[in-house]
Amino acid sequence: MNILVTGGAGYIGSHVCKALAKSGHTPITYDNLVCGHKSAVRWGPLALGDITDRTRLDEVIKQYKPEAVMHFAAYAYVGESVTNPGKYYLNNVLGTLHLLEAMRDNFLNKLVFSSSCAVYGTPDMVPIPELQSQRPINPYGMSKLMGEQILHDFDRAHGIRAIALRYFNAAGADPEGEIGESHDPETHLIPLIFEAALNKRESLTIFGDDYETQDGTCIRDYIHVSDLADAHTLALSALIDGQKSIAYNVGTGLGVSVRELIATAENITGLLVPISIGPRRSGDPAILVANPNLIRKNLGWEPKHSSLNEILQTAWSWHQSNIKP
Ligand code: UFG
Repeated sequence: MNILVTGGAGYIGSHVCKALAKSGHTPITYDNLVCGHKSAVRWGPLALGDITDRTRLDEVIKQYKPEAVMHFAAYAYVGESVTNPGKYYLNNVLGTLHLLEAMRDNFLNKLVFSSSCAVYGTPDMVPIPELQSQRPINPYGMSKLMGEQILHDFDRAHGIRAIALRYFNAAGADPEGEIGESHDPETHLIPLIFEAALNKRESLTIFGDDYETQDGTCIRDYIHVSDLADAHTLALSALIDGQKSIAYNVGTGLGVSVRELIATAENITGLLVPISIGPRRSGDPAILVANPNLIRKNLGWEPKHSSLNEILQTAWSWHQSNIKP
């Protein structure tokens, strides 16, 4: 079955394309290659296009006649969204709206939406269940929440069923080494730890060590990108089987602090990570950990690659084979 994958050339999108191909589908990547990489499009055709370009979306849907859509195309830097919110609302919200309208007009009624734990803001309760109140504390999270609201309204009005997957911290790389994480600029913790370990940067700045956590640093739920990819293929099967619209957390349920992550990375690489302590980063909640019981129960999803060791091992292998000069 042809599946339209917006943002299929990106980090998570490309891992999902690989998983889709393994399940017998053909991913049609729709990407403008602003953040994505042409080299990551390996399991189906690439249709160049911008998510806000309604005409091009129609053209590609008519050409490939997909039966379902997976929507990743979005900007995803929390910090940047605070300093440049317009960029996030224009691309993430307007892009989702254009996609949904194109789906409606082309009679497509199944969507897996790339959402985020950032929709919760500072959680009232940890681990976070899906029913937790949603009060994003940065424009990125707000843009994803608005996306979820648009899905809700389009389901009610036009019968487009959507599963929103609220990712916690995507990490790691394809265990077979074909694809991995490569952002420009890189702002994510794990690649930055490796760069510091390899003396590509002076040190890793820990954004705040005065949080109310055991060691003072932020706690996150790191989920292997291949486990995230599995969640998407399971969500697609559920939609094909008629599942109604729903949102699922995708995380492990285990929290890891910045300092713990650095210590494990030092073990795995055998290198020392030089650190410095900086101020808190705006938009960062202290603790984000998933309660993933719902997706476990409804879709039978289980993380298979998300031990901290495997996340860091696969990320390290990818990093070493893709070091920029
Ligand atoms: N961190 C540092 N120093 C750095 C980079 C990150 O201390 O140089 C810390 C952050 O403060 C945070 C943790 O490491 O506590 C993880 O930061 P990342 O930037 O790797 O990831 P984020 O948690 O900011 O972002 C991720 C996803 C977003 C998602 C968000 C939810 O990339 O898409 O989780 O908060 F919205």
